[in-house]
Amino acid sequence: MANSSPPPGTSDIFPEEISSWYLLEDAARRVFPLYGYGEFRTPVFEYTEVFKRGLGDETEVVQKEMYTFEDKGGRSLTLRPEGTAGVMRALSGTDAVNGNEWRVFYTGAMFRGERPAAGRRRQFHQIGVENVGRAAPEIDAECIAMLAHYLEETGISGSHLKLNTRGAVADRKPAEEALRAHFSKNIDVMCEDCKNRISKNVWRILDCKQAQCKEHIENTPDIVSYFSDETKNYFSKVCSVLKELNIDYEVDPRLVRGLDYYVHTVFELVHPGLGAQNAIAGGGRYEIFLPETKKPVIGVGFAAGMERLIIVRDALGLPKPDLKRSPVFLVALGEAALASNMRLAAQLRKSGIAVIAELEARSMKAQMRAADRAGAEFAVICGDSELQKGVLVCKNMKNGEQIEIPSENIADYLKTRIS
Ligand code: HAM
Repeated sequence: MANSSPPPGTSDIFPEEISSWYLLEDAARRVFPLYGYGEFRTPVFEYTEVFKRGLGDETEVVQKEMYTFEDKGGRSLTLRPEGTAGVMRALSGTDAVNGNEWRVFYTGAMFRGERPAAGRRRQFHQIGVENVGRAAPEIDAECIAMLAHYLEETGISGSHLKLNTRGAVADRKPAEEALRAHFSKNIDVMCEDCKNRISKNVWRILDCKQAQCKEHIENTPDIVSYFSDETKNYFSKVCSVLKELNIDYEVDPRLVRGLDYYVHTVFELVHPGLGAQNAIAGGGRYEIFLPETKKPVIGVGFAAGMERLIIVRDALGLPKPDLKRSPVFLVALGEAALASNMRLAAQLRKSGIAVIAELEARSMKAQMRAADRAGAEFAVICGDSELQKGVLVCKNMKNGEQIEIPSENIADYLKTRIS
């Protein structure tokens, strides 16, 4: 028997479910342009280097989760695990590297070879934004405010904003040394990955979810105290602007985010309507070096997981928008009626009425069943006698009422009655 399931961690989206996706995309296309953002589309795959350099060699995503393959010329390509690195690759060829501002948003499929679970997919979809070229605490705060506005527009309430700072690049050394000194006391009992991380990239330990590492992560010293005054001032300005904008947040000193490009502000939006995978969106300020640019591309942005937004909307009991199905079904009895219905269908569609016309000779019963299945409000029936009289029989599928309408009036009749 053929297996109708797609590969693990991927999903089919049937037409009945698509209205939730349209709602999230429509909200993005409404809200982000209000802040001057334009939609950007980059390829679904990039040269592998774009992600390795962008996200960091030691990250979980690069080490374990990328779908990588070779093209015919032997160059390594990777399905994008996230959107930021590709956008930076594209903008590195523009004046963004000279500090000119670009404001872009994107929606699309991302790919990570993670263990599938509720809210954790191998192909998932993000809605993301990037404000590229400039750095200021106010820009970071506006970006967070835009995320809050977007969520409001999707009807989602009850999320919780976690905020932290990763410090400037120049701040890293003392903080890293403090982290290394702290973890080296217990590294023997920590997981194998953390044993590697302590020398390679000690920050990644803070992201470890293993039970044996948890206690030592919770006891981490206050990293912010190792940062420079410049970093501390930057962060307190982000916090004070958020307060002015009435955006609630909680500072979480353990929040480092799973990607290495972050500097200064990092944030995550969590929602109790989700299970273990409780982040509906995450983001922050970043710096990405690409060899083609002698300078880093800087920016701030976030991405929200669309599958997770839909889970939360469902958990909150928010209604799914009702997509109009075809309200009119044309039933044809006989060859001549089939041909006439084809012309009628074209005319009705041009006047904006969605129509399904039966295109094969089938029994009246089979056609009425099909009209019902299509969710039609009206079945318009045509046979030889109707053609002779120049009328159509219009059946209201809800109450069963049937009346004859002159053919030339059918479009006006339906227009005033379909919902
Ligand atoms: P991220 O935190 O890796 O950040 O992903 C952002 C969001 O994508 C997560 O909060 C989650 O909702 C969703 N997500 C991630 N992985 C999965 C998965 N396997 N299944 C379902 N949903 C998932 C980024 O991707 C950054 N590029 C965000 C960013 C933009 N930072 C600055 N600019």
